[in-house]
Amino acid sequence: MNQHARIESGPIPFIDVAAQRRRLGAAIDLATKRVLDHCQFLMGPEVAVFERELAAFCGARHALSCSSGTDALVMILLAKGIGVGDAVFCPTFTFCATAECAALVGATPVFVDVDAATFNIDVNSLKSAIRTAKAKGLRPKAVIPVDLFGLPADHDAVAAVARDENLFVIDDAAQGFGGVYKGRAVGTLGHATATSFFPAKPLGCYGDGGAVLTDDDELLAVLKSVRVHGQGSDKYDNVRIGLTARLDTLQAAVLIEKLKIFREEIAARNAVARRYSQALDGIAIVPQVPDDYESVWAQYTIRLAPGRRDALASALQAEGIPTAIYYARPLHRQTAYRHFPVAEAGLPVSERLADEVISLPMHAYLDVPTQDRIVDAVRRALR
Ligand SMILES: Cc1ncc(COP(=O)(O)O)c(C=O)c1O
Repeated sequence: MNQHARIESGPIPFIDVAAQRRRLGAAIDLATKRVLDHCQFLMGPEVAVFERELAAFCGARHALSCSSGTDALVMILLAKGIGVGDAVFCPTFTFCATAECAALVGATPVFVDVDAATFNIDVNSLKSAIRTAKAKGLRPKAVIPVDLFGLPADHDAVAAVARDENLFVIDDAAQGFGGVYKGRAVGTLGHATATSFFPAKPLGCYGDGGAVLTDDDELLAVLKSVRVHGQGSDKYDNVRIGLTARLDTLQAAVLIEKLKIFREEIAARNAVARRYSQALDGIAIVPQVPDDYESVWAQYTIRLAPGRRDALASALQAEGIPTAIYYARPLHRQTAYRHFPVAEAGLPVSERLADEVISLPMHAYLDVPTQDRIVDAVRRALR
């Protein structure tokens, strides 16, 4: 077998963090060396530069970096004083952190169903969940739409319900930063946005990291305090309960370099998604992007009739092609979350999706021959 043939049949990474590392190599080496030389490992100059550039990227007034996407969500809830007796509405078809943040501050996550075509929060189910919360004597306080798999939620529809019910809107953009909704960038869509720089995210760092984006000056001031133990203007007087939730300077230095190529990477991800969808439409249910939305394709997720995906995963695995199931269990079916309330109309779409979804390899460095290898294998397995 010649070398070309060997590469073409070898295992494919699900997300190729190493390909991007190779591309950025020298720039990241220099950026991290600068931090190692100046030794300001926390709140060094790179942190403020990155925050400015992140805010400018999406057009938010402020970006505040922090230690993870989960901490970004927790910080917002703490800053808003949300806690015991308060209901926080979130989709059940998401990563656990969306609901975990509410439970961590003592509030009650109330689970909402999603739309089958977009995987994102369904506002009719949100209205049903608000009725559930009120019937249980909870105070409706916040809603956390998620931009799942990189596709923005229907933020106008969420905002309309939030206005009627006086809910604070926290956009969970851990998977969706870089996306666009009706001409507005993710980061500007809720009252506050939380994002994650976990390495596998579209904009990832080399460890844990996250950020809050907001236009709200007052919220920013409280978030800055929450980020460092609730400190006040006198650093020996802590004025609220907070966290240790700063972004390391080294991670900010990495992110400054990555942000420079992020738009190009988003375009590359979109090109991969387009080719996948052209090749797989009619064979599986391919993901839909509504008009005037732009996804960053954190995941490329297809749907199959229940009972078919294990065979597909095994057939692809045998050819060195990894897959993943996001999410095999909606949150309301997980041990730690079973006892929380759910929308009175139930969560049937999320329960169905959990049996149907399977995600294919997706990243900005997936070349055309590898894409072809993946779609050929999927088509063969599903025929
Ligand atoms: C939808 C969603 N919310 C929140 C998070 C939490 O982000 P982190 O892992 O940075 O804490 C993640 C990521 O893993 C996520 O996918």
